[in-house]
Amino acid sequence: PAPKILVIPGSLRTGSHNAKLAAAVAYEFAQAGVDVTRISLADFPLPIYDGDLQAKSGVPKHAINLKRMIGAHHGVLFVSPEYNASVPPLLKNAIDWVSRVQDPHEARGEVFRNRAFALAGASQSRLGAARALQALRLILTSCHANVIARQLTLAFADEAYDDMDKLKNEGDIAALKELVAQLIDISQRMM
Ligand code: FNR
Repeated sequence: PAPKILVIPGSLRTGSHNAKLAAAVAYEFAQAGVDVTRISLADFPLPIYDGDLQAKSGVPKHAINLKRMIGAHHGVLFVSPEYNASVPPLLKNAIDWVSRVQDPHEARGEVFRNRAFALAGASQSRLGAARALQALRLILTSCHANVIARQLTLAFADEAYDDMDKLKNEGDIAALKELVAQLIDISQRMM
């Protein structure tokens, strides 16, 4: 049976390079026969984490829903921009909130521990968001996530797509396919 894969872009911007990359990767998962869901964090609006807020009102329902969304998939791919050499607050905040959702019937970190995670990122720079992915890897592994070693960095992202938002460069396409194949393989073992 095919694993279920969730794709989470880390940018809400119209014309986002990372949203385009998320769409390209999701297409590749679908081509491989995988059941793929691509979400937008715009549908999970969350305030900046504040312990007082949590103490007063509990964890917001969108954080609980996002955790359930992750929990309903075997593999999760984050597609992250790089802001000042790190993860954009949109993604960090979402992960922080999800990590605070406590389910009485499960051990802490279970939602991260029991599935496969992979990272991709696009930026206009030569490094292709590599530093953001390094930061994101540290965040996720500290939440006990299994993050696969291979990651996809898309450099010079403003020149990487054609008019149809398809990747132009053969090397980028090959790297994307390799990441997709590896995440499918490891997600299957998580089923
Ligand atoms: C950036 N950008 C950026 N790019 C990069 O490669 N390294 C960096 O450290 C930064 N830093 C940074 C900080 C802030 C606050 C912003 C808003 C942007 C540029 C970034 O890669 C560019 O805006 C991308 O287009 C963002 O990704 P999306 O929205 O296109 O997916």
